[in-house]
Amino acid sequence: VFEAVPQAPPDAILGITEGFKACDNPNKLNLGVGAYRTEEGKPLVLRAVREAERRLLADPKQDHEYLNMGGLPDFCRLSAQLAFGEGSAVLKEGRNATIQGLSGTGSLRVGGEFLSRFYTRSKVVLIPTPTWANHRFIFEKCGLEVRQYRYFKQETRGLDYEGMVEDLKAAPEGATVILHACAHNPTGVDPTPEQWQGILDAVRSRSLLPFFDSAYQGFASGDLDRDGAAIRLFADAGLELLLAQSYAKNMGLYGERVGALSVVTSDAAAAKRVESQLKMVARHMYSNPPKHGAAIVAIILSDPELFAQWKVELKGMADRIISMRQQLFDALQQVGCPGDWSHILKQIGMFSYTGLTKAQVENMTNKWHVYMTMDGRISMAGLSGAKCGYLAEAIKDSVTT
Ligand code: LMR
Repeated sequence: VFEAVPQAPPDAILGITEGFKACDNPNKLNLGVGAYRTEEGKPLVLRAVREAERRLLADPKQDHEYLNMGGLPDFCRLSAQLAFGEGSAVLKEGRNATIQGLSGTGSLRVGGEFLSRFYTRSKVVLIPTPTWANHRFIFEKCGLEVRQYRYFKQETRGLDYEGMVEDLKAAPEGATVILHACAHNPTGVDPTPEQWQGILDAVRSRSLLPFFDSAYQGFASGDLDRDGAAIRLFADAGLELLLAQSYAKNMGLYGERVGALSVVTSDAAAAKRVESQLKMVARHMYSNPPKHGAAIVAIILSDPELFAQWKVELKGMADRIISMRQQLFDALQQVGCPGDWSHILKQIGMFSYTGLTKAQVENMTNKWHVYMTMDGRISMAGLSGAKCGYLAEAIKDSVTT
């Protein structure tokens, strides 16, 4: 009965890792998936995470019982606090429904399912052009209608602020708008604080429902508060909104699938009812989330010493990425690569949106064994100082042949 099932195409991001693994060239370089690597090219387990795990293992009260459908309560409370800030009115007034999710993707999906079931104002979801490749599929699979708004301007390799605001102001009343909280993926281009204010005004003018995707808090600038500023601007302005948080990057808990979904409502009673429905969505999809990763996060966020240590390690990762930007830029100058590469320095977060075309990316991969996504995105977090020269040569060859 399954003979007619067609082969699925490779995933735009995770498919790149499969290609990398299958390659046996010694120079191969995986700049596809956004996963942090050390200077030695190795995955990093943060010391704060190791210590939290040690404590978990040493605790005789730990067991493997089910969590509630909404996950670990402490984890949910602390995650909301991390995003909205300690003095947040939303938290004080109990206007948030926060549940544990399966990292960012799972939190977005539960949020999308919830909207599909209960948000009646509009079934349209607006995503930026470009955006993380999975956004479209997640919301389409929830039965929502995905449309796009302008975000990136090729000519300036910066934000198309006017285009973005124009599109939001022309959006269907009440549509959901996906906003990257910081370190926009894939472009590494974020609005300035003034531009965020303008975006907020545009959102208000059409009564849009903001849905923040926060996958890089602390990872973009090294400062948790700064990276949470856009979320807080909207929440403090009294808007109802959704927020998906991921701890994949900022705690290096990629495979543990730890995240949170918050829905901010107009009053505490509504938040309670929303929470009950979010739990139902979770129950129907996967019943309840896994414990281990959330327990690690809860320990780190609740222990001042571990929290301080995490912040130092987070800053260390962010700084290494910033130094990679400089080193790659310098290497491009050194090999005499034609063109203006200053955007590599200006973009922030894990990725650089190089501007390489599909044909150039194919040359990077086929000839130089540099694995990157077809849209020209490279993960700066996967690069090391020792590989900058090689990468610069590959880029030069790709733009000149
Ligand atoms: C990425 O954009 O590379 C990451 O968010 C990993 C993923 O799941 O796509």
